[in-house]
Amino acid sequence: MKISGSFLTIQDDENKITKLNEVTDYMHFDVMDGHFTARPTLPFSEIIQKTDKVTNPKDIHLMVIDIKKYVDEVVKTSPEYITFHIEATENPEEIIDYIKSKNVKVGMALNPETEVKTICPYLNKIDLVLVMSVHPGAGGQKFIDITDKIKELKNYRLQNNLKYIIEVDGGINDETIKKVKDVDLAVVGSYITNHEDFAKQVAKLRRSLHE
Ligand code: DX5
Ligand code: ZN
Repeated sequence: MKISGSFLTIQDDENKITKLNEVTDYMHFDVMDGHFTARPTLPFSEIIQKTDKVTNPKDIHLMVIDIKKYVDEVVKTSPEYITFHIEATENPEEIIDYIKSKNVKVGMALNPETEVKTICPYLNKIDLVLVMSVHPGAGGQKFIDITDKIKELKNYRLQNNLKYIIEVDGGINDETIKKVKDVDLAVVGSYITNHEDFAKQVAKLRRSLHE
């Protein structure tokens, strides 16, 4: 399992963002528009100024309604993945094709209450499924048990010989990570960033995976 660092709660602190980049495998960029979510994040142009020293591959999580507009903006940073929410669009195929036309891997995200079957028709076209284990909007929330959905996605992948990776996002700590051992990528924010020693927190997470 790889770890994608979420810097939502330390957005203003360039030094901490750089430190998080050093101890994680990916960097997770949360982008909220204040429509799909209650509150917006900083404009992406400002987020990007503070992430100058980020060297990890970028995993961009769009929690926005006007998806294409944001794709046009975030694509300039050469991300590995751009992920959009199934709940935010009536035409997922169009968005998938749009992201692919930019030569970026495509992810689709599911809110905690959204069922896996809603994205089944698209699973052969995408590279990543992000399963939300909190409601989109803020870091530091409590983990919602979505383990059945992860099992379902793993089985579906195997049965249909597909390649998408499975990512979980929200409320991951050294206890909850044990419930999602099967995912390929885990987003972790406040469990790391609420402490002084980021490397120690990541070591604790990795140790939990082997318990
Ligand atoms: C929630 C965001 C998450 C969040 C994760 O809307 O998508 O990426 O920042 O942070 P923690 O690990 O604190 O739940
Ligand atoms: Zn996220």
